[in-house]
Amino acid sequence: MICPPFEPSISTMPDSRPLPRIGAHALPNRVILAPMAGVTDRPFRALCRRLGAGLVVGEMVTSDPNLWHTRKSRLRMDHRGEPGPRAVQIAGGDAEMLAEAARLNAEMGAEIIDINMGCPAKKVCNKAAGSALLRDEALVAEILESVVAAVDVPVTLKIRTGWCADSNNGVRVAKLAEDAGIQALAVHGRHRQQRYGGEAEYDTIAAIKAAVSLPIFANGDVDSPEKARHVLDYTGADAVMVGRGAQGNPWIFREIDHYLRHGQRLAAPDDAERAAVLHGHLVALHDFYGEHMGVRIARKHLGWYLAGDVRLDDDGRRALRATFNGLDSAAAQCRFIDELFRHDPVTAPHRVARAMTPDGTCAA
Ligand SMILES: Cc1cc2nc3c(=O)[nH]c(=O)nc-3n(C[C@H](O)[C@H](O)[C@H](O)COP(=O)(O)O)c2cc1C
Repeated sequence: MICPPFEPSISTMPDSRPLPRIGAHALPNRVILAPMAGVTDRPFRALCRRLGAGLVVGEMVTSDPNLWHTRKSRLRMDHRGEPGPRAVQIAGGDAEMLAEAARLNAEMGAEIIDINMGCPAKKVCNKAAGSALLRDEALVAEILESVVAAVDVPVTLKIRTGWCADSNNGVRVAKLAEDAGIQALAVHGRHRQQRYGGEAEYDTIAAIKAAVSLPIFANGDVDSPEKARHVLDYTGADAVMVGRGAQGNPWIFREIDHYLRHGQRLAAPDDAERAAVLHGHLVALHDFYGEHMGVRIARKHLGWYLAGDVRLDDDGRRALRATFNGLDSAAAQCRFIDELFRHDPVTAPHRVARAMTPDGTCAA
């Protein structure tokens, strides 16, 4: 079966199938925020949830508790104030250690444990974790059974289609998952050796959906409501999982949800809403990470927001990024947002640069 090229002219009939469940947790819709290390921190999860994500998954956490005292792990494991269900993703290659990590995270409040078998990163794969595990189906089964046995909360799994083009063993792994008691399976439509290159394929996801009765979450290159609808129709999956499509565009969740329910596009956010969301996101980053680190992390998010701002041309985006990256304080970054939306997009890059100084005081 060859996946036809994506064409936006697809069915606009509302999706009337029952919404997916993960154990006792009924999802409110079919749109899930994918786990992304360095992106899906608590501020971003909160924002995506507020803008319509039916479920959000945190950044992967190492299964080695000896590393949990580090600042990085502590921040990744911080779910304070988050509404449920809290989905915590663990990564590692040792069944016993993963089971213990799952148990400890459940004790700390995780309501869903997600196991990472999708990450292609060297740091993870050198330790035979992430997607490297897909090569060893016996180890996959051992890990899944150990983790499911260790906790009372539902356990989910995230995989790629396989290790390489010749070994797309996603269907076999999905069956192992079902047999082990995994409650939902997210599948990224690329094998490990593709990393993030090329286009995601949905045939393997469709084959997995047909082979098991678990809820299946289709992942890979879903970046619009129409694409979400196409992927759900093509694969029969129960939900889409959106990663990079949400960077700088957290509105995508409500837009996809609306399109799936009504078959029509929701209006894009207006400038007032965009300004409020950007402002709120920056403030949340400054609060969560502290000013020094928050200001740095805000730079990449602002870059993504600018990349998706259709009011600007490439030169304008570049100039605005350069201005923003030169700002050193939380106050300056917040003022930048005020200035950005105060001006006409054609003149904004020049005017914002003139108005800003690195510490946020008024230059003019
Ligand atoms: C910056 C970044 C970090 C990621 N971190 C994780 C992670 O921690 N755990 C995981 O399972 N997948 C991770 N992924 C993979 C995504 O969850 C997702 O499978 C992949 O990006 C494909 O979906 P997309 O095309 O919607 O982005 C990451 C991807 C990116 C781009």
